[in-house]
Amino acid sequence: MPEEKLIYGGKSKDVFEIGEGSYQGKYRFVFTDRGTGYIENGKPVFDPGYDNVVGEISGKGAVACKFATYFFRLLKEKGIPSHYIDTVSDNEMIVEPATPLSMSEEAPQYEGSAPLLNLEFTWRNNATGSFWRRYPFVKPGKNLHKVVEAWTKGDSDILITYEALEAAGVMTRKEIDYVDKLVKDIATVVSEEFASKDLHVVDGKFELGRLRDGDGKIVLIDEISPDVLRVCNGYEPNDKGDCVADGECIETKFADDKRTIRGGYQLTASELEKIFLS
Ligand SMILES: Nc1ncnc2c1ncn2[C@@H]1O[C@H](COP(=O)(O)OP(=O)(O)O)[C@@H](O)[C@H]1O
Ligand SMILES: [Mg+2]
Repeated sequence: MPEEKLIYGGKSKDVFEIGEGSYQGKYRFVFTDRGTGYIENGKPVFDPGYDNVVGEISGKGAVACKFATYFFRLLKEKGIPSHYIDTVSDNEMIVEPATPLSMSEEAPQYEGSAPLLNLEFTWRNNATGSFWRRYPFVKPGKNLHKVVEAWTKGDSDILITYEALEAAGVMTRKEIDYVDKLVKDIATVVSEEFASKDLHVVDGKFELGRLRDGDGKIVLIDEISPDVLRVCNGYEPNDKGDCVADGECIETKFADDKRTIRGGYQLTASELEKIFLS
């Protein structure tokens, strides 16, 4: 057995540094069967929108790996940079090691200081989810032209503006502009691919990182999976690209000062997974 170091055991994947062979020093991603969700009446309910691992779904890892492979290869064809190198088994992928977009705490002598571990980037074709909950003056389904937002990844994700990222010194303005375009370019490829199957991507979430080897370029890392995309089969755009099927599809609630929003035409993760598997 080649020597390997476990770098990270995440909610859904295990990441190893490869000890020998042609991929020495690169990372091996193992897509596990672990699934996140919540417990209801003592039983796990799997839901990618939740952050706690509640059990295993046999075959989930292999499906996620196949799905991610499909999209990483498609991006490569389109000249969009990612960490992807190769897929070596049903549930294993080789990737370039990358450093997440992060920042160590500047003044650890202050109690409560904490590092920025990672940034995540959401992008949206149409308004729903947390965008609508934050901005309920917007009509659900409105065309948001792939607006990109940055979030600090942690126990709870916190929105961080581009100005704050620049002021804090996490990224330069040039890097921010590059990242914004990169996320929109990936979003365009993914959206067009689903459109070719008569499906509409409502929004998505990506992770980016700086390549450890080479020039430290910022690329797409982690995965493209059903867990990071909201996809529906009822998109009816008007001439502005706003979805006008909202009346049949969207249901909102407002109780105890809390808003919820649901799309009836949204595909479940397992429905989505089947689409790119043949
Ligand atoms: N190319 C890469 N280099 C280093 N770390 C990566 C790379 N791609 C993804 N990661 C990190 O590896 C972890 C993957 O495991 P995952 O189960 O998705 O974790 P999480 O529970 O944090 O979502 C994530 O934390 C992700 O940020
Ligand atoms: Mg993850």
